[in-house]
Amino acid sequence: MKILIIGGKGTIGQPVTEHFQIENEVIVAGRSSGEVNIDIADINSIEKGLKTLKKVDAIVCIAGEAKWANFNELTEEDYYIGLRSKLMGQVNLVRIGKNYLTSGGSITLSTGILADDPVIKTTSAAMVNGAIHSFVKAVALEIENGIRVNAVSLGMVEDAYEKYKDYFPGHNPVPMKKAVNAFVRSVNGKGSGEIIRVYEK
Ligand SMILES: NC(=O)c1ccc[n+]([C@@H]2O[C@H](COP(=O)([O-])OP(=O)(O)OC[C@H]3O[C@@H](n4cnc5c(N)ncnc54)[C@H](OP(=O)(O)O)[C@@H]3O)[C@@H](O)[C@H]2O)c1
Repeated sequence: MKILIIGGKGTIGQPVTEHFQIENEVIVAGRSSGEVNIDIADINSIEKGLKTLKKVDAIVCIAGEAKWANFNELTEEDYYIGLRSKLMGQVNLVRIGKNYLTSGGSITLSTGILADDPVIKTTSAAMVNGAIHSFVKAVALEIENGIRVNAVSLGMVEDAYEKYKDYFPGHNPVPMKKAVNAFVRSVNGKGSGEIIRVYEK
């Protein structure tokens, strides 16, 4: 398979890329990292990057930002960071990416535990994650050409534990192997419209 991994150099993206590289042709994209430059917040950049690849069998997005701050401090403009990047970035990736997928290809988006179990400072991040879950379930009903669309929703992963542990008191980190497997399930499985949740109890 030819697989595009946007965010493939990131904390989660790196082990996912290493896994898929074993048996597939993997192209990594990022705003400034990877072989292809794609900024998901910019539709022209998505189109330009995909054009250079012609057709791919799977698109995996492990990227997207949202502003973390207390509700009382978040401005309207702050919310637009998450809406433009993580939400509409991934929605536009499906809108444009479907034209560059082989028949029966797949698109995997990234969300996170905040959609179901928010912590403080995440009114924006939790909101966009939840919106993506609804989008994925709805778009799977209509997308053509046998294309599957899923979201992987992870809890705080082991490799990000030091960075995020204070935001997630008492949360158990997700082992990287389980995080990688969620993407394998989406790309190599047959499901569509699925929210693949991996949260440690
Ligand atoms: N870490 C966790 O525990 C965790 C848990 C659940 C969900 N998530 C979500 O999973 C995603 C990845 O998390 P991470 O911890 O792996 O992040 P990370 O280490 O910061 O890596 C993010 C990757 O995405 C790329 N990227 C960022 N913004 C982009 C954009 N607008 N367009 C294209 N590429 C972009 C970055 O490369 P460039 O800088 O070159 O663009 C980088 O390779 C995020 O959406 C995060 O919210 C993370």
